[in-house]
Amino acid sequence: MSSANHHTHTRSLFSNKFGYILAAAASAIGLGNLWRFPYLAAKYGGGTFLITYIVLVLTLGFTLSITENSLGRKTGKSAILAFREFGKKYTFIGVLVSVIPMIIFPYYSVIGGWVLKYFATYARGGHASAIEDGFFGSFISSTAEPLIWTAIFLAFVFMVVAFGVNRGIEKSNRVMMPLLLVLLIAISIYGLFLPGAIDGLKYFLIPDFSKFSPALVLAAMGQMFYSLSLAMGILITYGSYLDKKEDLEKSVAQVDMLDTVVSILAGLMIIPAVFAVAGPENLGAGPSLMFITLPKVFNHMGAPDLVGSAFFLLVFFAAATSAISLLETIVSIFCDATKMSRKKALAIIACISVALAVPSSLGYGIWANFKILGMQVLDFMDFISNSLLMPIAAFLTCVFVGWIIGAKAIHDEITLSSRFKTQKTYRIMVKYVAPILVLLILASSMLSAFGLLSL
Ligand code: PHE
Repeated sequence: MSSANHHTHTRSLFSNKFGYILAAAASAIGLGNLWRFPYLAAKYGGGTFLITYIVLVLTLGFTLSITENSLGRKTGKSAILAFREFGKKYTFIGVLVSVIPMIIFPYYSVIGGWVLKYFATYARGGHASAIEDGFFGSFISSTAEPLIWTAIFLAFVFMVVAFGVNRGIEKSNRVMMPLLLVLLIAISIYGLFLPGAIDGLKYFLIPDFSKFSPALVLAAMGQMFYSLSLAMGILITYGSYLDKKEDLEKSVAQVDMLDTVVSILAGLMIIPAVFAVAGPENLGAGPSLMFITLPKVFNHMGAPDLVGSAFFLLVFFAAATSAISLLETIVSIFCDATKMSRKKALAIIACISVALAVPSSLGYGIWANFKILGMQVLDFMDFISNSLLMPIAAFLTCVFVGWIIGAKAIHDEITLSSRFKTQKTYRIMVKYVAPILVLLILASSMLSAFGLLSL
């Protein structure tokens, strides 16, 4: 019986709709929401960034999520093969899309390592040292220690994928994710009562359009791709496992909404706290924001070591489940494209990951002088993937669907299981609005980066 099921064309992996939503949310919710969103929102003018982000999720984000999931479910394949299904000449879109997770995964693991270091510090009762000036700076600029934590993070993720225990991890998520939400809300509420926090709340929620810039829009768009796991083949793979009977549109909407809510909560937790414990001059702190602000908030709380270790443990879980989904995607792409065994694919990916993670980590220390386009290695990888390759991949995907296979192909796939409520808007979005928007944002920010345009 069960072997017959394996050969059905839906290759359904999820026991029910809840299973899909949980797995997709586990991939979506991660460091992107907790670490990356707040520092970008802080840096790019708070409320202006927030509103731009929400508008982009509702338009571009939702369109792309629907598109990728439908392409996956329609073809039953992962990215490269899914595009090839429509003709050999489209394979390159799949290839482009597939390079992106390989760039993100290594530096994602470096930040995952930072999270582990903070967990270990709190678990050993080190809340006092975590707030010392220079604690974070001297940690990330040292040579061996961040690399060791990155290695531990990588080892964990590789082991889970190699031994195929992802299902177990996903089960634990049923407990970990709600706990993370509760803790986010509790820390946010606590933080809002600190003196000065209300100014931060205003900064985060009230737009100030004088802060609007092409760079802001590009950052918000890159963040949206990153956080919703778009434009890198992940959702094509997830869609290929989605049951033909499930309401695709609704599932996708729920995942996107959940992901956005978690980002907003993370912003509520961190940005007001920056005003209260560190001062608004620290808004531009960038990647270090979460690691220097939150420890100071924890220190005000009753049991800082307990709160700190619980928080960083839950962040670790969120990061690990996202990293697992990244690695799974990379493995399936390698195996699909070259027919090599999983074992061999894992070994090759491990080598590439280490080769890219080491410079990302050392870029904060002994290799700090090595800059590419004025950026450290980690920032550069982040920039290349989120601000350049993902918009290009998203543009190509929209053109492919809107102009080559036609929005009707997506419509037919969705209506296999349910009505397609946003059908009319979808067609206009995928054909005109989304590709033009992506192109405009990309072009204007590139021009302004090179000083050819001032807005
Ligand atoms: N979306 C994840 C996050 O927000 C990161 C991620 C990107 C995970 C791509 C999987 C694939 O952290």
